[in-house]
Amino acid sequence: MKKLLVIHGPNLNMLGLREPGHYGSENLESINASIADEAKKYAWKVDIFQSNTEGAIVDKIQGCIGNADCIIINPAAYTHTSVAIRDALLAVAIPVIEVHLSNIHKREEFRKKSLIADIAVGQICGFGALGYRLAIQAASEHLDGAS
Ligand code: DQA
Repeated sequence: MKKLLVIHGPNLNMLGLREPGHYGSENLESINASIADEAKKYAWKVDIFQSNTEGAIVDKIQGCIGNADCIIINPAAYTHTSVAIRDALLAVAIPVIEVHLSNIHKREEFRKKSLIADIAVGQICGFGALGYRLAIQAASEHLDGAS
């Protein structure tokens, strides 16, 4: 059984309440339930982790060596700032798919730069919570060598 690690960065625990115009009205619990359902369709084992702290995210990434075949990450604000998260992803050398609920390319200038995009298999953004399900499909096809 393949193993998937899904990481949600800072403030994503506030989904549902937080800027619904950008992030929709679904809360993280409900998004995580749909991630778990989608993973089940592909017979993936899924570990879902959220933290507001950069170091905790780095520790989680480091700890997934041997425990994850793919990482799906929405680094949230750390997307635009965190060399530490980028370096941790490079260190573990596990395929990464970057997800954003909003289309970061249509927003403020500072959101257009991702420190993860060029080390990811790909980036999915602008589709709201659907992006996580698309990422699981992409992960499955990528690992099967179909894309
Ligand atoms: C986000 C986009 C980021 O710019 C922002 O800081 C977030 C959420 C998204 O999912 O659209 O917290 O990653």
